[in-house]
Amino acid sequence: MANENSERYLTFALGKGRLANQTLKLFEQIGITCEEMKDKETRKLIFVNEELKLRFFLAKGPDVPTYVEYGAADIGVVGEDTILEEGRNIYEVLDLGFGKCRMCVCGPESAKELLLHHEQIRVASKYPRIAQNYFYNKKQQTVEIIKLNGSIELAPIVGLSEVIVDIVETGSTLRENGLQVLEEVCPLSARMIVNPVSMKMENDRITKLITDLKQVIHKEN
Ligand code: PRP
Repeated sequence: MANENSERYLTFALGKGRLANQTLKLFEQIGITCEEMKDKETRKLIFVNEELKLRFFLAKGPDVPTYVEYGAADIGVVGEDTILEEGRNIYEVLDLGFGKCRMCVCGPESAKELLLHHEQIRVASKYPRIAQNYFYNKKQQTVEIIKLNGSIELAPIVGLSEVIVDIVETGSTLRENGLQVLEEVCPLSARMIVNPVSMKMENDRITKLITDLKQVIHKEN
């Protein structure tokens, strides 16, 4: 039985882009490498480390929790924003300490008053669930939420909405467009997530991975 388990590949779903690169750097520090994945020209979708019996694939951020919930990936790395928005049945096991930013309500200064007086405003966001939870449950304020898919800062500028709920990292997108943070919803960072069944079946390997990562993260922070 132990043999069968050690033959099984552990599969990782990584959110494409900066988070994936930082994740691979972090994994290298605990001896997990995937040379195949470094080839920028490759059209391959799945990368394998035969020796460690690991498989990696890149997916769009919002799809990572889906792969993990269904067990197509045992482990995922994705932003906390995506985890909150997707609301999937997964275990969130580790804060990886990078990809730090904030989810905020932003808009022109004039929108401050509207928020203060609980006016029925329009809120544009790529994160309707987070926006809804914040306004309805936390603030008890009725608002109209408009789902957008990107460049959210445009919405208050062209009059689609009074405010937005979006990620703020450096704040330069807001500044360059005459907008500001009006309220903070929550801090965000990259997280490791695990499929609940995998957590039971592969407990030793996954627990070791978490312990090793914690040591490196602890040293860096
Ligand atoms: C994100 C976010 C903001 C920007 C914040 O957008 O939605 O627009 O980054 O970063 P800053 O505070 O450092 O300026 P992203 O680049 O992911 O693209 P999107 O607008 O298409 O969502």
